[in-house]
Amino acid sequence: MTFKDQIDLSKLPEHIAVIMDGNGRWAKTHGKPRIFGHRNGVKAVREISEGAAEIGIKYLTLYAFSTENWNRPQLEVDALMTLLVSTVRNELKTLNKNSIRLNAIGDLSRLPPKTYKTLMEGIEDTRNNDRMTLTLALNYSARWELTEVVRNVAHDVKQGKLNIADINDSVIQAALTTHDMPDPELMIRTSGEQRISNYLLWQLAYAELYFTDTFWPDFNKEELYKALVDYQGRERRFGQISEQL
Ligand code: FPP
Repeated sequence: MTFKDQIDLSKLPEHIAVIMDGNGRWAKTHGKPRIFGHRNGVKAVREISEGAAEIGIKYLTLYAFSTENWNRPQLEVDALMTLLVSTVRNELKTLNKNSIRLNAIGDLSRLPPKTYKTLMEGIEDTRNNDRMTLTLALNYSARWELTEVVRNVAHDVKQGKLNIADINDSVIQAALTTHDMPDPELMIRTSGEQRISNYLLWQLAYAELYFTDTFWPDFNKEELYKALVDYQGRERRFGQISEQL
């Protein structure tokens, strides 16, 4: 029986967040340069997006480039930015065919102009699609996001639009880059690393974490479905005890 057959479609998470890790190490095992790993990583992006949409996941958020990734060799950064442009261009048709809406979170203003422009065009061209929202976290870090939230909330207080006493979970939630999506119930990280790495720190508060040794370019639909079966076998207590659920 495949993992897909074992999934209970009535208990799917609405939102899956992914840290796509291991492209470089995957390339090394093939005796190739790191960019070869990223190119094959794009194939996994396609496969996982398709696999998630196929079973009815509503939101898929992929960590594609962190604020710390600018510190990589310039050649690799340039290659990743170029890859992003070609990927968005090449995948537009498929995204529309499958009614997938492209979205991005992060400090997008720092992206190279061509990357930014192509991304915005992709977002605009797919904005009416409603089967699944595919969000790319680009030049994103949770500390950046939370700093922005504090800045915006403080601004509203200063303008007299908000009382300090009224600042609560919902006010913060509404100021996040993910304000229009539910929090991820499941976070998957590939390549054997077991860290959150500055990813969606507020949103992952109650997420189930799933780690696999598989490098991202080898992560496929069955691996995704395996993660979902594992997730469905867990008891999510949200601070309560089993008997209360
Ligand atoms: C992590 O592997 C991967 C990244 C930092 C970039 C992810 C990018 C892609 C999958 C390709 C482009 C994506 C899109 C959406 C167009 P790593 O380089 O950190 O691998 P390592 O830990 O083995 O060095």
